[in-house]
Amino acid sequence: MNREKSYLKFVRITCLVISTLLFLAIHNEEDHVSTVNEDIMNADAKIDRLKMLYSNLETTTSVRRIRTKTRYPDGMHVPFLLNNRNMCRKYEKISVLVMVHTSVGNFWRRKEMRRTWLNSSHYSPENLQVIFLVGTTSNKTVTGLLKNESKKYHDIIQGDFVDSYRNLTNKGVMGYQWITENCMNAEIVIKIDDDAFINFFKFFEDFSFLKQRKRFIFCNKINPNSMPIIRQNSSKWFVSEWFYKGRDTYPHTYCSGFVVFISTDLIPALYQAVFTAPFFWVDDFYLFGLLPSRVKNVVHENFRGNLTFMHPEGLKCYKELKRKCKYLVMPARDKELDVMWKAVIADRHQSIYGNYYMRERFID
Ligand SMILES: *[C@@H]1O[C@H](CO)[C@@H](O)[C@H](O)[C@H]1NC(C)=O
Ligand SMILES: *[C@@H]1O[C@H](CO)[C@@H](O)[C@H](O)[C@H]1NC(C)=O
Ligand SMILES: *[C@@H]1O[C@H](CO)[C@@H](O)[C@H](O)[C@H]1NC(C)=O
Ligand SMILES: *[C@@H]1O[C@H](CO)[C@@H](O)[C@H](O)[C@H]1NC(C)=O
Ligand SMILES: *[C@@H]1O[C@H](CO)[C@@H](O)[C@H](O)[C@H]1NC(C)=O
Ligand SMILES: *[C@@H]1O[C@H](CO)[C@@H](O)[C@H](O)[C@H]1NC(C)=O
Repeated sequence: MNREKSYLKFVRITCLVISTLLFLAIHNEEDHVSTVNEDIMNADAKIDRLKMLYSNLETTTSVRRIRTKTRYPDGMHVPFLLNNRNMCRKYEKISVLVMVHTSVGNFWRRKEMRRTWLNSSHYSPENLQVIFLVGTTSNKTVTGLLKNESKKYHDIIQGDFVDSYRNLTNKGVMGYQWITENCMNAEIVIKIDDDAFINFFKFFEDFSFLKQRKRFIFCNKINPNSMPIIRQNSSKWFVSEWFYKGRDTYPHTYCSGFVVFISTDLIPALYQAVFTAPFFWVDDFYLFGLLPSRVKNVVHENFRGNLTFMHPEGLKCYKELKRKCKYLVMPARDKELDVMWKAVIADRHQSIYGNYYMRERFID
């Protein structure tokens, strides 16, 4: 009996000490976040070091969760239902990692994307890799087709959360987690929606300098206090009064999520920031505004001049001006993909292997 009592006392004191330490740790989080991504020599060391940091943060976060009952994104530490974790490890260096937010059911669109502008062999010797980020669906046929697709192409990452519009934040957080753990050897990361089209010939010719930048986000930038928060509950974009109570505009610089270029060094820091940033469903603001606001010295730069949101405008530009067209990114979905691709490659040179090379000097 006595031994049991003193044991309980010991447990209580230990708990008290631990929670005090955790409390202190929580209040140090900001510093953690900002020191994460000093330059480290190789990808594996980087990955290992960051994994250690998560294990600390995991504990502090769960304590905080109990204390405040705050909800954090499901995409944080999700079990991957489909994973292709060796994709980046196969290569020493990856020029670009494209992460695509796509709906589970968009099979045909993904196939077209892989065949056309997301096919790395067109850009050799550059190495472009793609991950498609999806959630779950209750449709068993679709789930089966997705498994088969993953086996065939090894580029699907599926998290354990329902694939829906108001769950897009989870998808992005999952992407940040996946890259931190598996793909720090990418020179730059590009997040796109699955109706965006990037002319990578132009990217490698004119925008390669982006790969040298650090702590850098390049996108269609939205300035702080300029975008209204929609409070009408009839709207698709309705935000409940609980979020940013009393505010009518978004308080941080952020991006429209259609296309966002992010320097790879920022990704682990953004992922770390998730542990201090409660879930908010407006993914563009959460992923490219709220999280960066918690990391020191992040620069957002505006990319509006080289982007169009209108497919016909992009197509017309390429048909008329060919490689002189100023647009790097334009929309193209489903059947539009092939049309846009053909317009883009119309004045590229084809090698004997049937690939389109970006520069004449690659052709003998
Ligand atoms: C990518 O292009 C190469 C060469 O043109 C081709 O052999 C390959 O099948 C293409 N990949 C996909 C997924 O379409
Ligand atoms: C599941 O998806 C398939 C393929 O898209 C579709 O044909 C079928 O109607 C769906 N089933 C249900 C129950 O929604
Ligand atoms: C997936 O592939 C297996 C083996 O090729 C096949 O038996 C199965 O029918 C496929 N599943 C779907 C949903 O098409
Ligand atoms: C988001 O995913 C979670 C986990 O699967 C699910 O419980 C929730 O209903 C989803 N939310 C929406 C709006 O679909
Ligand atoms: C939407 O807002 C109106 C007016 O503010 C309110 O009367 C109504 O109950 C709300 N509807 C829902 C579903 O919350
Ligand atoms: C990007 O857009 C700007 C403004 O429209 C234009 O002046 C510039 O030439 C474009 N850059 C490239 C590389 O096409």
